[in-house]
Parts: sequence; structure tokens; C-alpha cells
Amino acid sequence: MSRPTTHPTPRLVRAPEFGTEEALAAHARLFVERFGPAGDGAGDVRTFFSPGRVNLFGGHLDYNGGPVMPTAIDRGTFLAVRRRADRTVRLASVFDDDVFEGTLEALPAAASGRWYDYPLGVIRALRSIPETLLTDGFEIHFGGNLPVGAGLSSSASITVGTAFALDAVFRLRLDPVERVAAALDSERGFVGVHCGIMDPYAVGFARPRHVLWLDCKDESFEHLPLDFDRLVIGVFDTGVQRALARSEFNRRVAECKAAFEGLRRHVPGAEVMRDVPLDVVEAHAGELPPAVAKRALHVAHEVTRTFAAREALLTENFPALGRAMLETHASLRDRYECSCDELDALVDAAANVEGVLGARLTGAGFGGCVVALMEAGAEDRAFVEVGDAYEARYGRRPPAAFFRGDAGPREVGA
Ligand code: GLA
Repeated sequence: MSRPTTHPTPRLVRAPEFGTEEALAAHARLFVERFGPAGDGAGDVRTFFSPGRVNLFGGHLDYNGGPVMPTAIDRGTFLAVRRRADRTVRLASVFDDDVFEGTLEALPAAASGRWYDYPLGVIRALRSIPETLLTDGFEIHFGGNLPVGAGLSSSASITVGTAFALDAVFRLRLDPVERVAAALDSERGFVGVHCGIMDPYAVGFARPRHVLWLDCKDESFEHLPLDFDRLVIGVFDTGVQRALARSEFNRRVAECKAAFEGLRRHVPGAEVMRDVPLDVVEAHAGELPPAVAKRALHVAHEVTRTFAAREALLTENFPALGRAMLETHASLRDRYECSCDELDALVDAAANVEGVLGARLTGAGFGGCVVALMEAGAEDRAFVEVGDAYEARYGRRPPAAFFRGDAGPREVGA
């Protein structure tokens, strides 16, 4: 195997240098540079794209059983995959020197803390399906144009993309829900993040010109139309790495669990925090430790707000939708305490731009990106004005890009 040079991890850029087709064709060439020409009996190199996502509503509601409203974006993970005639598995990335090499029978039982834990967890999950058809080895080369650790769900993009690509290459005949389950298995059971179900659903069930409405209690979902002729999604990156994001995230999950344990006796039949209405939280907040009470208040408000946002979307009341996003951000900042100064500055700057309807942090928070809902045509103004305001305060311009949804994981150039 040769040792190609690694590339810097992607930053958000307003216009990618290549369209997806050219970028994936280039990625297939990198695959050959990395893994060499096909050996006897090997398959062709096939290329796949898997998107990232932003979340418009339902901040930190998924693991509380609430509703969420994410949509995919057309930046994501590139995967080049080749089936082998033996049982060897190799995983490489254009962003990292560490290469995984092993066999299907002896996949590692524990995560190593390296980037390839994410696809390995998926491979393990697919191997554990009874009578799995994943019986031959393969090589996957990962790349893409999605910033990592910026709240745009690079992890679900990789895990769902891995499940999708292996499903296609090995004709595993998986249900899309099984691909999402394998992605979740990897992140929760192998990598060890207690994440909710939103991200893999947002990636796996993306549909053009729609947002996903996902009820995280019963995992039912539907696609709601978003008029991307009139609206556009802006993403602005603080450039702040999400330090402590994993430990703080897991702490929030634990606090919500504690809130539910403290409040459930007041709501007969309640199964998850989402079932505890706002008036009950308000009446009994004093019985909870102060931080736990704040988390519970955020959840109850956000559940109500997310249902209201759904109505605003369906009735095309876009100003109300934007205002609700700003309220979500304030609640994440004050009650959930998962924002930071840079995120708040970007939200404030965006809210001041004519044509921007609303903005909030996206993903877990603690750094990463802000998502803004804007009128189509306001992109240039937002790019300049948000950039100016941020630069005046922090001495650097935030990378930014604008999106109109995405069609979800797919093979490209077949
Ligand atoms: C991260 C998690 C999701 C969700 C969001 C917050 O992205 O992976 O499951 O909890 O944070 O809404």
C-alpha cells in the first residue's frame, strides 16, 4: 500500500471547488493511489456520497423522546469502496494517516479512539445481522467536504454512508431503518456517545426540498415541504472546536434522565421527559437540583415550540418560524447552557441582517456552527454583514455556506 499525503480537514467554504460528481471521481483516483490497483477477483471502485445535516428545531429533544426537525445539507462524506476476494478489511481517510487493517472474522471488540471507530462500529453491526451477506472483505477510502466536529453531523454522515455503501456493494438488502440502526449501534454501542436518533435519521431519510419531522418517541417520521425557492439555510462556523462536547453532552443526557426520574411521578403514564408538560415542570422545578431544573424547563419549552414551528412551517408563516429559532437559541444558551460567546455573537449578528428570519446553534453546541433561516437572495448580505460583525469582535471571518437541502446517501457516477 502506498502512503499518499493526507489533506487538511474540510472547512466550510461558500462554493466548493468541484461539484459532487467531479469531487467523487477525484476521490476514486485517491482510492487507487492509496490502495493500489484491483487484485484478482476484486470488484470495481464505486463511489458514494452521504450528507451532513442541520437541525432547525427540537434542540436536544431527541434523547428526551421529543420531536425534531432537521434537514440534510449537500456537504458530506465521500466514500470509495471496492470489494475484495479475500476477507481483509481496510479503512483509510484522506484526513488522517491512521489506516485500519484487519479481517472480517477478527474485527476489534473495543473502540481505539481513532477516526475509524465510526465505520468499524457499523461494520460490526452489519456483521451481527443474522445470515448477513457481508462475508467478503473490502476497502473503503473516506473523504469529503464537511467540517468535522462543527455540529453538522460528520459522524452520522460517515456511519450512515458506510451502511449505505456496504448495503449497495454487497447487496445486503437492508431496510433504510436497518442502516440507521447500524449507524446508531456504532455511535452508541462502539464509539460510546449517548446520542439520540436524530442525526442518522436526518442523513438516512433526507429528501430534496423537505425537512424531516421525526418523533423520537415512537420513531415515526414524515417529510414536510420547505420552499427552497423562497428560503435558504445559512451556516456560519465559529471556528471554535467543541472542546468537552462529548463529556458535556453525556452530562446533559444524564441531567435529563435525572429530571425525568424526579418528575415522572407527577405525570401518570409518562415514559420520557417529553411527556412531562411545561406546567408540571414549572410547578415542581423547585424539587430538582437547579441545573437539572433548567434542563427540564428547556425541554418542556422546546417541545411546545417545536410543535408550534411545525404549524408555522405548514402555514408558511416564515417570520414566526424565524422568531421561534431565536427563542430556541436563547433557551439553549440560558437553560441548557450549551452555547458559547462565539455562537451567541453569530446568532446576534445574523438576526440583525435584513432577510434573516432566525438563527440558532446547530448540533450539540459548545462551539461549532450556527444555522440561520433566511429569505432567498439575502445570502450575500448575510455573508458580508455577519462576517464583518464577527471579525470586529474576534479578528477573523467565520466560514459560511448556504444550503437548499439534499437528497440523502447515494451512489455517484455509477
Ligand atoms: C448531537 C446529537 C444529536 C442531538 C443533538 C442536539 O448532534 O448527536 O443526537 O442530541 O446533538 O439536538
